[in-house]
Amino acid sequence: MDISRRDLIRSAGLLASAAVIGSTTAARAQTTPAAIAANINPLDLLDLTDFERAAKTVMQPMTWEYVSGAAADEITLRWNHEAYEKIRLMPRALVDVSQLDTRITLLGRELAFPILLAPTAYQKISHPDGELATVKGAGDANATMVLSSFSTVTLEEVAAAAQTPLWFQLYVQPDREFTRELVHRAETAGYQALVVTVDTPVLGPRYRELRAKFSPPERPNLRGLKGATGAQRPTEQSIFSAVLDPKLTWKDIEWLRSITKLPVLLKGIINPDDATRAVESGAAGILVSNHGARNLDTGPATIEALPRVIEKAGGKLPVLVDGGIRRGTDVLKALALGANAVLIGRPYVYGLAVDGARGVTRTVNILRRELEAAMALCGRTSIASIDRTVIWK
Ligand code: FNR
Repeated sequence: MDISRRDLIRSAGLLASAAVIGSTTAARAQTTPAAIAANINPLDLLDLTDFERAAKTVMQPMTWEYVSGAAADEITLRWNHEAYEKIRLMPRALVDVSQLDTRITLLGRELAFPILLAPTAYQKISHPDGELATVKGAGDANATMVLSSFSTVTLEEVAAAAQTPLWFQLYVQPDREFTRELVHRAETAGYQALVVTVDTPVLGPRYRELRAKFSPPERPNLRGLKGATGAQRPTEQSIFSAVLDPKLTWKDIEWLRSITKLPVLLKGIINPDDATRAVESGAAGILVSNHGARNLDTGPATIEALPRVIEKAGGKLPVLVDGGIRRGTDVLKALALGANAVLIGRPYVYGLAVDGARGVTRTVNILRRELEAAMALCGRTSIASIDRTVIWK
């Protein structure tokens, strides 16, 4: 038998993994087959960067390109995180930080900490259990998850598995009656808020996923949607998608509010004038987001847009932010600049790909502990005590 050196090394890795499984923690035994094949022990991964690196080796190349990629030249993708790196923090000494309280109240409910899971589509391409693993991981971390309309598990199945509150992200469909049904289903299943994505009348040009020949998997939440047989991703002939509505306007936000008792948050506000309109529209909250830089390239980093949005809307409704958050210090900076809470997207998908539900839990826990450490080192013992004086001027 012709066994190459690579096969031998690989088998040695697998045997080593098997030995670890046999001899040490049960936790290791739950590791995904992909992680074992890549000889990754998730317990060696200590921060979100470690998980990202591991995810690249574990994910199918096409999935990696889809998840990690962004629009056009990916300049805003870079800015989203770089902008956090440019903000400096002001430490504070000799404060009793033995008791830290990270609780917040959002939409009338208490959350244990101000980090939520942003909606991300098609999670079964990253892990066989997809959104069911994420909702388990979120529950074990005591985090709120926002489920995407483009989930690969029905919203009812995810709700049935949830241990913590869920919000539902809505892509308003060109078929408004279908949209009404979808909203009704989310309400009936117990979702506590509706997050309407308003930054995606069309998708941006995402060349990495195009080069990798990514095509979207089935979306069971949209089953029964008639007339959506056209192209779902942009082509050279047309930028429009059959499952996004380029006609969506402020009038539709009023309509949505009229058909649901759920609070309606607007996801994807960057322009301060839109923040003013959002307040007037009766929205229950604003999510400052550029869709993880996946649509418009060369727009500002979200943390740069946040203070301008807060100026128009802060105090009148909660303002959340996502995009580029990879460190507890990033969370602290967002809170210092006025955000009520933050969301993470790619990082927990990487956790999911590497280690299923446990990877999601660990991603959240790591970020949460980093936030606590940053609070302690800046002398802040509660979220309410975090203000602009945390920022070095
Ligand atoms: C997304 N995002 C997204 N947003 C949304 O409203 N509906 C969706 O279905 C998706 N799907 C989706 C898939 C993937 C793979 C990614 C990476 C992102 C955007 C997401 O909610 C969030 O705004 C960004 O991911 C935040 O940026 P970071 O944390 O990924 O840098």
